[in-house]
Amino acid sequence: MRFVSNEITLYAATKNIYEFLYDIRLDSEVCDNLFSHMPTSYEEHVKYLDSLQGNQHNKVFICRSGCDNIGVLRLKNIDYKNGTAEIGADVHHKQRRKGLGTKIYLAAIDMCKNQMNIRKLYLHVFSFNKVAIEMYKKLGFETIVVLKEHIFKNGKYQDVIMMEMFL
Ligand SMILES: CC(C)(COP(=O)(O)OP(=O)(O)OC[C@H]1O[C@@H](n2cnc3c(N)ncnc32)[C@H](O)[C@@H]1OP(=O)(O)O)[C@@H](O)C(=O)NCCC(=O)NCCS
Repeated sequence: MRFVSNEITLYAATKNIYEFLYDIRLDSEVCDNLFSHMPTSYEEHVKYLDSLQGNQHNKVFICRSGCDNIGVLRLKNIDYKNGTAEIGADVHHKQRRKGLGTKIYLAAIDMCKNQMNIRKLYLHVFSFNKVAIEMYKKLGFETIVVLKEHIFKNGKYQDVIMMEMFL
């Protein structure tokens, strides 16, 4: 699967790109904002990505700008019947703060709306992740609920914000 929008190409992740995805997975800012607290070995990472091949409800995409791999996009819990999906994305640390996170989301929104018939996207974000929350607000996501003390991270139960956006 390949989708081009807003100068960004989204490719379904293939084996040749697993190392780039692992690089992102190990980045400290990404780890700080992941809900899982276990460090993942490369073998577990490969196993997880392999398990998603052909999965219609959970998909991982490589995001490319020109010839550069710039980030990863995840669509989880894709519900074709109700037209909803959970979205998440990380930008490679060398590519942050250039507007690319915003462009990845805009491309993803275009693909979800016009190719996958998704009508609503939602996401979960730690309340301490001000950078991401600011970007989501600018994209048009609205806070639905604050899940109080929801996930144990950095030595305490952290609040998680759930946001959604109608496409
Ligand atoms: C969150 C993330 C995807 C944003 O990607 P990005 O390409 O850096 O974001 P953009 O350049 O498109 O910036 C979008 C907005 O985010 C905010 N922002 C981004 N980086 C920021 C920073 N270092 N400080 C403050 N605000 C920041 C700004 O509001 C910015 O809008 P502006 O350019 O009009 O000021 C990226 O920082 C990332 O991958 N972070 C680590 C993992 C993570 O937090 N993922 C999200 C988990 S829910």
